Amino acid sequence: MLIRPAAEPDLPAIASIYAHEAATGIATFDTEPRTLAFWESRLAGVETGDHLLVAEDAGEVIAYAMSSAYRPRPAYDRTRETSVYATEAARGRGVGRALYGALLDLLRADEVHLVVAVIALPNDASVALHRAFGFESVGVLHEVGRKFGRWIDTELFELRL
Ligand SMILES: CC(C)(COP(=O)(O)OP(=O)(O)OC[C@H]1O[C@@H](n2cnc3c(N)ncnc32)[C@H](O)[C@@H]1OP(=O)(O)O)[C@@H](O)C(=O)NCCC(=O)NCCS
Repeated sequence: MLIRPAAEPDLPAIASIYAHEAATGIATFDTEPRTLAFWESRLAGVETGDHLLVAEDAGEVIAYAMSSAYRPRPAYDRTRETSVYATEAARGRGVGRALYGALLDLLRADEVHLVVAVIALPNDASVALHRAFGFESVGVLHEVGRKFGRWIDTELFELRL
């Protein structure tokens, strides 16, 4: 498995991984796919601390991880929100761990101070992944989202680098 920065030809695969989760899962509160233009903007996102990484296996993109602004206000500049998505077939084999390790190394080098992750519950795999990297829970927002006809909680995790 190869972990590397995403490039333009990876964007359809990244978009497809996210679109599948938007349509079938609760990890994202999006219900529609994100446009290719959105993913292109992530590639072009050149603020310090913005990254889009992919995991490639046998020439296929099987997962990606992203860091982006927590909120678009200057005082949040050294805080980044992270997310990671793998294809269903790729899960549970260490790809999330490999991507997050690489992403957090980049964020440390960028002197990012705080990393925030928002996890819709239940998501045992994501909670385990974040805890494995030292993220700590800072609280639950109850019934903050509604998808597939039911209310969903989110748990906020932070990691001070
Ligand atoms: C969350 C996700 C990225 C994790 O990636 P993964 O490759 O499946 O996870 P890994 O195999 O790297 O495992 C990471 C850790 O989680 C644990 N884990 C993995 N799947 C698990 C599961 N279903 N239940 C409990 N723990 C699990 C592993 O044991 C491992 O912990 P360890 O290193 O302390 O042993 C992946 O499951 C996924 O894409 N899920 C759908 C999208 C999603 O929920 N993204 C997160 C949004 S916040």
